Amino acid sequence: MAPTFNAVIASLQKEPATWLVTGVAGFIGSNLLETLLKADQRVVGLDNFATGHRSNLKAVTNLVSHEQWSRFRLIEGDIRQLKDCSSAMLWDDLPVQHVLHQAALGSVPRSLADPISTNDTNIGGFLNMLVAARDAQVQSFTYAASSSTYGDHPDLPKVEHKIGRPLSPYAITKFVNELYADVFARSYGFQATGLRYFNVFGARQDPNGAYAAVIPTWVSRYLAGGDLFINGDGSTSRDFCYIANAVQANILAATTSDNTARGQVYNVAVGDRTSLTELAGMIRTELEQRLQLPKTNVVYRDFRAGDVLHSQADITKARKNLGFEPTHDVAAGLAETMDWYIALAQKSAVFR
Ligand SMILES: NC(=O)c1ccc[n+]([C@@H]2O[C@H](COP(=O)([O-])OP(=O)(O)OC[C@H]3O[C@@H](n4cnc5c(N)ncnc54)[C@H](O)[C@@H]3O)[C@@H](O)[C@H]2O)c1
Repeated sequence: MAPTFNAVIASLQKEPATWLVTGVAGFIGSNLLETLLKADQRVVGLDNFATGHRSNLKAVTNLVSHEQWSRFRLIEGDIRQLKDCSSAMLWDDLPVQHVLHQAALGSVPRSLADPISTNDTNIGGFLNMLVAARDAQVQSFTYAASSSTYGDHPDLPKVEHKIGRPLSPYAITKFVNELYADVFARSYGFQATGLRYFNVFGARQDPNGAYAAVIPTWVSRYLAGGDLFINGDGSTSRDFCYIANAVQANILAATTSDNTARGQVYNVAVGDRTSLTELAGMIRTELEQRLQLPKTNVVYRDFRAGDVLHSQADITKARKNLGFEPTHDVAAGLAETMDWYIALAQKSAVFR
């Protein structure tokens, strides 16, 4: 049986490892950094700050001890450059042990507006990372795949081996990552494990900009009052995955001692389905427990191009092979993170 997450963290603390986290200044990357440093690991971070923020790294500095922070090395570089990927594979001239590859240009709408940039980073950059990691002979390679790979497949819940046609350039790039990972296993014996994240949310998720994620955007809208827009009729549903669950999946996938569990793809979510209307209500309830809210009108508008209507993960495979056990459902994740969303919204331009 796979060890529990707590057992894995305890054994890492006893015998610290070196890790490379790409996209370390982003939402998921900075949360991986926080957990790894808190567990006394050594971490190299690679980021070009395309969508990540120095403030995310600053926030992590404030959450770990001085000694833990001293075990972090930032490389400002670009995964589209093979040499940057190769230099990031080293800690004191020795290869890092575990690679958690998160760097990519996320977002379906961004990829529809600019498919070339998304392709260059998400496919070209991914291939560079695979080559650099293979050549450095790292112990494990885990990468951010995506639930968008399910495309137009109608089945719910989603099981890993049944996928449809991609619905956006972004979805193509994430599927191509899986194809490359598969070919690297067969051609070079290099195993890369893909984690298909389903709408991850939590602290340090960017609430601003045209491609903002739905939860931070709605928190800001509720605080500001006025119109809150829901794309579609509100029945669109997602398996919202709290960040702690995604962090857990990465560390379990990287450290598994079961060789047959490597080199596969896994759904990473909770296994629940929350509609957009339900989510808006849950956010409002959490906020009302803390603040007096101005009046908000919920406005339903057109469905967004490229979006799938419903999404829900079957997480049996990750449970069985990796010992993945989500600690937070959507309500628990929202409760844990709401103060952070409020603090951020209060100082952001969206709120003003
Ligand atoms: N957040 C989600 O719900 C979700 C869902 C499915 C998949 N994913 C995937 O998870 C990963 C992390 O997503 P996130 O939400 O943290 O996004 P994010 O934008 O916060 O983080 C991505 C990070 O990658 C960096 N980056 C982008 N291009 C780069 C390049 N060329 N070289 C070096 N660094 C580069 C960015 O600066 C940023 O810090 C991505 O691969 C994304 O596609 C995320």
